[in-house]
Amino acid sequence: MFKRVSGTRDILPNEIESWQNIENISRSIFSCHNYHQIRTPLIEEESLFNRSLGESTEIVQKQMFLIKREHDVFAMRPEGTASIVRAYIENNIDKSQGFAKYYYIGPMFRAERPQKGRLRQFHHIGCEAIGSYGPGIDVEVIVLADSLLKAYGIKGYRIVINSLGCFSDKQAFILSLKVKLQEMRSDLCDDCKDRYERNILRILDCKNEACQKIIKELNISGSSRCEPCQAHFNSVRQSLDLLKIDYEVAPNLVRGLDYYNRTVFEFKHSELGAGQDALGAGGRYDSLVKQLDGPETGAVGFAFGIERLLLVANQQAIIAPKEGNLVYLVTLGDDAKNAGLQILSDIRQSGIIADTDYEGKSLKAAMRKANDLHARFVAILGSDELKEGVITLKDMANSSQEKVKIAELTRKLKGSA
Ligand code: HAM
Repeated sequence: MFKRVSGTRDILPNEIESWQNIENISRSIFSCHNYHQIRTPLIEEESLFNRSLGESTEIVQKQMFLIKREHDVFAMRPEGTASIVRAYIENNIDKSQGFAKYYYIGPMFRAERPQKGRLRQFHHIGCEAIGSYGPGIDVEVIVLADSLLKAYGIKGYRIVINSLGCFSDKQAFILSLKVKLQEMRSDLCDDCKDRYERNILRILDCKNEACQKIIKELNISGSSRCEPCQAHFNSVRQSLDLLKIDYEVAPNLVRGLDYYNRTVFEFKHSELGAGQDALGAGGRYDSLVKQLDGPETGAVGFAFGIERLLLVANQQAIIAPKEGNLVYLVTLGDDAKNAGLQILSDIRQSGIIADTDYEGKSLKAAMRKANDLHARFVAILGSDELKEGVITLKDMANSSQEKVKIAELTRKLKGSA
């Protein structure tokens, strides 16, 4: 028997309504903010991600699913930002419309060690606003992410923000961190010893207790920001305060991808557990468009992991699939079966969910089936009903039943839905 690949999931029909709810809510909230959907391919050239996420990041080093074909190497996309920037440049969107506000919903792939809330194929709902350096758009996307969580009904999350400053500030911060950690290097975990050389910022969000203790003692503050970057951050904070958005400033928040500068943020939830407590995350990436051979322009975005949203939503018993108003048609005898075909088609065409039994079950067995399907109504058509031009309609909610003229059935069902 074949099994699904470790770290991937089948999303079965009993879960699909929760997914569709999340997607529908997102579409409507994004539209209200004037974001438009973009769909990019699931595969891209490997080098797109190497160049944008950074050669030394964990994703590029260890987590890309690569496909080799003759002389080409493609990567299953590990995230959406790089692809969207590639599409923005390739389709000359800077020339046709300048400022682009895009959202996306779709699968991403990372070869991680699977565990709760960490998959190898997972799904992002995210957005990218490309074309502005102004702090106003940082605020817009943070508020947008907050509105999404509110609309999903998720409670108990924390918004954590920081500013990495510009790339020179980031460089200065990296250097000071190297100096500060130099003497404690041998006390770091094995991964962080390696990170010290390759990607020192990642040490700041290592979950190892010994590393956490060392980091705490460093007393990191945002003091290495230059004046314009500090002003940008102050402006973001002032607007969030004005809008009464609750947030915490976390100088340790650095994010794992190289493209970030200035504002970075995470939406955290304790119900996800300590290891991966981010429902979603994002930030500014003002150099990426230029770095991928596009124009010089600022950009900011974020992405939520849908599986993590659902983990919390299901624990909080929200976005529960709503009971459908299924009508189950039971026909008894060949004539009724034939007449039933048209009735079933009429019910469905009127926009009501309807199903029937095609196997000639007895009335008792068909009623059992209707129960299993949580049908709201059972419509029974036997030879007597057929002669009279009526159908027996049983309301499963209160077990009452009545005879309804076949010609009036859909109107009656619509009125009761
Ligand atoms: P990221 O932090 O790598 O950022 O991913 C965003 C979210 O995706 C995470 O907070 C988490 O909820 C979810 N996620 C990440 N990896 C996994 C996984 N293996 N399994 C399940 N869920 C996962 C980005 O990808 C950036 N592109 C976000 C962004 C957009 N920044 C600017 N624009």
